[in-house]
Amino acid sequence: MTIRNALVTGATGMLGSHIVDGLVGSGVEVIATDLAPPEKGYAWEAPASAVTYAPGDIRDKDLIGDLVARADVVVHVAAVLSKAQGDPPGPIMEVNIAATHALFEAAARTGTKVVFASSGSVYGPNRDAVDGTPAPAFVEDDPSYDLGFYALSKHVNELHAEAFGRLEGLSWVALRCSAMFGSRLRMGLTTRWLLSVLDDVEAGRTPRVDGDPNGGLDWIHVADAAECFVRAVTRDVPNGPINVSTGVATRLEDACRAVLAAAGYPQDIEWTGAHRPDGRFSSARYYSSERAGEVLGFRPATDVSIGMDAFVAWRNAMKGA
Ligand SMILES: NC(=O)c1ccc[n+]([C@@H]2O[C@H](COP(=O)([O-])OP(=O)(O)OC[C@H]3O[C@@H](n4cnc5c(N)ncnc54)[C@H](O)[C@@H]3O)[C@@H](O)[C@H]2O)c1
Repeated sequence: MTIRNALVTGATGMLGSHIVDGLVGSGVEVIATDLAPPEKGYAWEAPASAVTYAPGDIRDKDLIGDLVARADVVVHVAAVLSKAQGDPPGPIMEVNIAATHALFEAAARTGTKVVFASSGSVYGPNRDAVDGTPAPAFVEDDPSYDLGFYALSKHVNELHAEAFGRLEGLSWVALRCSAMFGSRLRMGLTTRWLLSVLDDVEAGRTPRVDGDPNGGLDWIHVADAAECFVRAVTRDVPNGPINVSTGVATRLEDACRAVLAAAGYPQDIEWTGAHRPDGRFSSARYYSSERAGEVLGFRPATDVSIGMDAFVAWRNAMKGA
């Protein structure tokens, strides 16, 4: 089937706005919806002629039913994310679980494929490193364990999609994203340090991070992640989950150093959390990118410093704006 247009939820967020740009770049028109209006420096750059903005709350079933019916495919990335202070259970239940369920229902009714943002958090807690070496990468067939309300909501989304696929013929792909960074980043849970170390230096302070420098994460550039969504939209992909990841664990310290280096700041970082001083992995959560390679033909940039220049350039432009 030729995809002429796609509905993108969460379209004014970091990932959603990059997906809008990627889809339009591939010749797909976009119906973009979000609760928050497009904001200068955070919005898509695609020409207005290719994007119809339909503001609204995905909890509004009538709105979502109407928008889904107008689309050839749905890309669903609107969600309530974990905050540094924890997961807000009520909004997560309403937005991530109930509204997503209603969206699946509407898509099953109209026979519309859904590509949605799941999360590497469905794999559960970090795996402990052994002798400083990260444990093996998670693969899609590993059992899922839940960390909190947010991870649970993503796991439940996948189970609901599976049931809609089996019982109602829904076509679905869950893209399990790892830790994303890049332009249009806001202060998120795991990635906020990339912004805060730059803020510290520019305020004349030693960059201070209350995290574990040896904790390994799978850092993926948001443009790479968005490319996976575009490929999942435009290709025939079997129902199921696919990791959107690099397959490489990078220590938090190395990620923070990469962003400081890209900004031209040689500063040391003060680590205020408990950690071993040996610079070896204490834990790691990273995800095999093999399935994404096989199914989507996707090859991620695996060096965390790739993409940092663009990230810093965007942030500088934002500060100067
Ligand atoms: N950022 C990461 O590192 C990461 C990692 C794994 C998975 N994810 C997933 O990727 C997706 C996008 O994340 P992001 O980093 O771009 O976050 P983001 O906060 O930048 O974007 C989320 C968007 O959803 C919108 N939204 C929230 N509630 C809504 C509602 N009720 N109605 C309409 N819109 C609503 C927000 O306004 C926001 O624009 C999410 O589903 C998230 O769970 C993100």
